[in-house]
Amino acid sequence: MGFTLRFQDKVAIVTGGSSGIGAATVQRLVREGARVLIADLNPPQETSDAVAFHRTDVTSPTDATAMVEAAVALFGRVDVLVNNAGIGCLDETPDLDPVVWNRVFDVNVSAVFYVCRAAIPVMARQGGAIVNIASVSGLAGDYGFTAYNASKAALINYTRSLALDCAHDGIRVNALCPGTVAGTAMGVGAHGSAADRQAWLDPIPLGRMGTVEEMANIIAFLASNEASYMTGSIVVADGGTTAH
Ligand code: NAI
Repeated sequence: MGFTLRFQDKVAIVTGGSSGIGAATVQRLVREGARVLIADLNPPQETSDAVAFHRTDVTSPTDATAMVEAAVALFGRVDVLVNNAGIGCLDETPDLDPVVWNRVFDVNVSAVFYVCRAAIPVMARQGGAIVNIASVSGLAGDYGFTAYNASKAALINYTRSLALDCAHDGIRVNALCPGTVAGTAMGVGAHGSAADRQAWLDPIPLGRMGTVEEMANIIAFLASNEASYMTGSIVVADGGTTAH
């Protein structure tokens, strides 16, 4: 497959870029000419001239600021921010521990605010694009996922409101809502029995889980100038699951 160079001379930050959807996004952006700072708790499998790692806990406002400073020090600017770091949580109210609820909201919602707060003044120098990785779980309920679903719903509406605030700075803000994605550390495909996997597959009209590369394709599109008239958009990629 041939690739264009939509990110030539562009600099991106990808949170949670050491694994799963984030790692595939880093590869895709680099293949299209970007230099990328991976901000993650854990280092990626490899770095290069175009890919740097900055150890970051996105739930720390101090770390978020240091991460943006590191990107500017290394690469001179920030054009693209992919807020991808996230954690899952199986729970049922009333058994759910408030500590766990708060941790899910810290990583999936508050951290996105901390990172955007740090990055937007730098991105506003030349404009750019923010892509938040939400989930179809933020669009409806699921059994046993109250904290996760509530956090992703909050992220979706944060995306819409942030898009309004950032429009005058030339920064577009959109969200991707993946359905069930295979091949990630956190994805349901990574855990459980064959019966569990089948239960996740049954409602997917396309009959299979998504791949990390398919998610990276959409993230790269939203981050590129091809999506220049899109802001505040919530894009679903779920094999048709929410079309039911
Ligand atoms: P993953 O578990 O493979 O990767 C997540 C990355 O985030 C890891 O590298 C982890 O170290 C990093 N991370 C976690 N907490 C962090 C923190 N406090 N600071 C910095 N980095 C942190 O997960 P996956 O599946 O690739 O998920 C990526 C995003 O996609 C998440 O926001 C998730 O909610 C979302 N998503 C995933 C789906 C799936 O089926 N895998 C479906 C829908 C949404």
